[in-house]
Amino acid sequence: MKILIRNIRSLLQTQQEGVDKVCGADMSVLPAIDNAYLFIDGGLVKGMGRMEDFAGSGFTKYAGHSDVHEIDAAGKIVMPAFCDAHTHIVYAGSREIEYIDKIRGLSYEEIAKRGGGILNSARKLQNTSEAELTEQAISRLEEIQSLGTGAVEIKSGYGLTTGSEMKMLRTIRKLKELSPLTIKATFLGAHAVPDEYKHRQQAYVQLIIDEMIPRVAGEGLADYVDVFCDRGFFTAEETGRILEAAAKYGLQPKIHANELDFSGGIQTGVKHNALSVDHLEFTGEEEIKALLGSQTMPTLLPGAAFFLEMDYPPARKMIDGGLPVALASDYNPGSSPSGNMQLILSLACIKMKMMPEEVIHAATLNGAYAMGVEKELGSISTGKKANLIITTPVPSYAFLPYAYGSNKVEKMIINGRPC
Ligand code: NIG
Ligand code: FE
Repeated sequence: MKILIRNIRSLLQTQQEGVDKVCGADMSVLPAIDNAYLFIDGGLVKGMGRMEDFAGSGFTKYAGHSDVHEIDAAGKIVMPAFCDAHTHIVYAGSREIEYIDKIRGLSYEEIAKRGGGILNSARKLQNTSEAELTEQAISRLEEIQSLGTGAVEIKSGYGLTTGSEMKMLRTIRKLKELSPLTIKATFLGAHAVPDEYKHRQQAYVQLIIDEMIPRVAGEGLADYVDVFCDRGFFTAEETGRILEAAAKYGLQPKIHANELDFSGGIQTGVKHNALSVDHLEFTGEEEIKALLGSQTMPTLLPGAAFFLEMDYPPARKMIDGGLPVALASDYNPGSSPSGNMQLILSLACIKMKMMPEEVIHAATLNGAYAMGVEKELGSISTGKKANLIITTPVPSYAFLPYAYGSNKVEKMIINGRPC
């Protein structure tokens, strides 16, 4: 299918080939073409430029052609679809009861201690069939797609037995077939210690290492491995052992780190060549130093900090110190029951003082990097996949995070097809 988009108010994130992430001060510069055209063919971006140069371009021959779908984007922005590099979209039911407890004053950890939290979702998931899980997840995927997401990473971690973790990962494999979105799967057996292993955490870690990882890897069900490395969950030492075992099967880490404390998770992630370390509410000078010498993407999840009323990660310190930053939704039933990346952008601006240019980089190219798809997605570059947002008419790109709460996505193009 061929698509020609004309009169685009501003075509955002038009990166040169080969730029795989944006760091530090570079995040405040957003490459863009105003009054632009864009040509898409066979699912890929084939060319772009300024409208005044269109007549002299090789693309004029497609204008008015019967097999070219033409879109007039006057007044609208076209940009890469969001790459949401951290979600838990496969889950059973919901946990609004805990939400009520939270309003009454209980903390995330107190709720978890009472059998709520991740273990509550694990119980629900164990009694839910793969078909039902798939159906629930598909409707969440359709929702986030309508809000601008074009690629998403999905974790297991509500199974917590070998069978149920495999069930979650098979569900994600099914979603890869059914959904037009680009999806990556992450094995998160070390999300919490299940009831059966209460007071026997070491035995559960051993089960992950000896049984879960070999079976998951044996069936090729996961792209990455994750551990919830935090106070009350898994220690840095346990995390290191799990990551070492996963590395033998070629599974690169993307870990939950420093959400609840200075857990050592960031340093452990960096040491094990993590693709990303995520959350990072507890990040100081030491952690920033460790990240600066690495290829690991710090990935911030302001939806979780908002929902749990925690202090936000120090995004300004990170960016001003030269680090790249990615933003993701953490869409899950306990700490962030929303996959709305537009809302994440607004939260990042207001609560972490990131600038509109920075949040757009963080949710597109840096998000793509954090899920290992930066070669094919995350920017408008010739040869990359055409996963794009066409916005409603907006005065400028700063309007996107500014007008929080309304959907500014008018149309999505996924794999070069309007939807
Ligand atoms: O990313 N931090 C750990 N895991 C999830 C929460 C999962 C849950 O409460 O169900 C998170 O916030
Ligand atoms: Fe998470």
